[in-house]
Amino acid sequence: MKILVTGAKGQLGLNIKRIFDLHPDIDVTYTDADSLDITSPDAVRKYLKDTHFDILINCAAYTAVDKAESEALLASKINTEAVGYLASTARETGTRIIHISTDYVFPGDHCRPYNEHDEPNPHSIYGRTKLEGEAVLKSFCPDAIIIRTAWLYSEDGSNFVRTMLDKGSQGIDLKVVCDQIGTPTYARDLAKAIFEITTADEWRGGIYHFTNEGVASWYDFAKAIFRIARLKVNVTPCASTEYKTPAKRPLFSVLNKTKIKKAYRLQIPYWEESLRECISNISNRI
Ligand SMILES: NC(=O)c1ccc[n+]([C@@H]2O[C@H](COP(=O)([O-])OP(=O)(O)OC[C@H]3O[C@@H](n4cnc5c(N)ncnc54)[C@H](OP(=O)(O)O)[C@@H]3O)[C@@H](O)[C@H]2O)c1
Repeated sequence: MKILVTGAKGQLGLNIKRIFDLHPDIDVTYTDADSLDITSPDAVRKYLKDTHFDILINCAAYTAVDKAESEALLASKINTEAVGYLASTARETGTRIIHISTDYVFPGDHCRPYNEHDEPNPHSIYGRTKLEGEAVLKSFCPDAIIIRTAWLYSEDGSNFVRTMLDKGSQGIDLKVVCDQIGTPTYARDLAKAIFEITTADEWRGGIYHFTNEGVASWYDFAKAIFRIARLKVNVTPCASTEYKTPAKRPLFSVLNKTKIKKAYRLQIPYWEESLRECISNISNRI
């Protein structure tokens, strides 16, 4: 089996590499924005046609949620148009695609976890471009696997955990929103799920939801980070209306994971256990 990973220097891409490196019998090629710019249709065609890949895992994305509000064209180019280039070429080469999407495709007006068939209605440019990416992918490759995830963090890159640890170690007092509810998700757990999907006996195309287990507000998440890291920080809860951001985020974006758990017999860790593991890895690096 030959696998191609795009956007491999992002937090999910790096974790996919960590997991697949434990299985050297699987032939995986990792590309980043320099070696394969997915917004170049020529580069995409050449890469996928020169070598046959059985599976393409697309980790490349425009992920700056707030910046996307003023960079809509760029966000759309990476999250929608480029997905179209990957998908149209993959259809010709018979390459199967695993693509990652987001909880921000949902409006956030539920009081129960979102299922895969619930109506999306994004309120941000980022969410809209990701939803359009899903649509263009399905139009070319109806059997693609689309995994919607949420609140990703890891030891790498810029994410909420690293930002909080950074601010916490400087002793900065913080206000964190307590009325947006979702599930923090360790990129390594998602990478493990993707490994299970690629090595499963059967390919089961469709949309799936994956996050860690449990729910939290950003305030709960911040408090857990400081508790685990043993940092004394004054954290005050505040409402989204008090902490204005360019992009409107869903107030409730918990995802129902029943489908992916059943299809791939996954045991997903509770978010705080995974957070503990990530923070321990970060401290061991220092
Ligand atoms: N982060 C989250 O909280 C979150 C939540 C829900 C869903 N997701 C989804 O999960 C997936 C993985 O997210 P992540 O957190 O791992 O993202 P990330 O850390 O921002 O990584 C994205 C990677 O894509 C690369 N990239 C950008 N433009 C590219 C291009 N034109 N060609 C090739 N590569 C390009 C980036 O490279 P450069 O850095 O060099 O630009 C970066 O390495 C994405 O689809 C994202 O939408 C993320």
